[in-house]
Amino acid sequence: MRFTSHGISFEYDDVGNGIPLLMIHGFPLDRSVWRSQIEGLQSVARVIAPDLRGFGQSGDAPETMTMDDYAADLKALLDALSLARAVVCGLSMGGYVALAFLARYPGAVKGLILANTRAAADSDQAREARYANASKAYDGGVPSIAEAMLPKMLTEATLDHRPTLRTYVYAMIARQPPGGVAAALRGMAARPDRSEWIKSINVPTLIITGSADTLIPAAESEAMARAIPGSKLVVIPGVAHLSNIENPDAFNAAVKEFVGKLR
Ligand code: MLT
Repeated sequence: MRFTSHGISFEYDDVGNGIPLLMIHGFPLDRSVWRSQIEGLQSVARVIAPDLRGFGQSGDAPETMTMDDYAADLKALLDALSLARAVVCGLSMGGYVALAFLARYPGAVKGLILANTRAAADSDQAREARYANASKAYDGGVPSIAEAMLPKMLTEATLDHRPTLRTYVYAMIARQPPGGVAAALRGMAARPDRSEWIKSINVPTLIITGSADTLIPAAESEAMARAIPGSKLVVIPGVAHLSNIENPDAFNAAVKEFVGKLR
């Protein structure tokens, strides 16, 4: 489906019935990262999965997309669908956006799911790397970014023994438009440190990660779980950054249990 408003345009899936579940993809991906969730969760929720602006089949992004910019797009989508509240689930960069969404629109969040993400801001070194990668993206470098990111997204076992999954993730990254990739990199570099702020989160929160995530180590999720009052942590054994893809059954089971309690 297509959402268009005030020059903003993006594609989204909207399937299933029940509690609205807004699924925010990570970087540099698109909504197809959620295919196993769209299939596996639509019996318990209304799954709404957009391509963030600049990614997938969405419209062009400006030079920088801050996490607040993405959050504002998503709020406009929920408004257009007449949905006052949703469970907001973000994976990695999607988690940064989910936190920005909660900070801006607390009344619109029924529950929060933070998958393979962190509350902290970038270090100076990470920020420099983001700017370098933003330039690289424009110089035809998205496929090389895909090559560099693949070993951080999936475990070695998956890369070696599940070629279809490997190709699927590589192709997803490699096809992303340079402008969208660069805009997200600049936006992530500018995101605030929310390590203290998350202590004030007062909506039900589920944190999911993979024990073998090297991009955002499980220790970061454990720290968030300690900081967010009443939150629940699920560490899926033997999976890396894209925990929802490497073990969709475990990921979906955790989400189903969480959503079931919110109904
Ligand atoms: C992601 O998976 O969304 C990104 O790699 C997160 C990041 O670069 O901080």
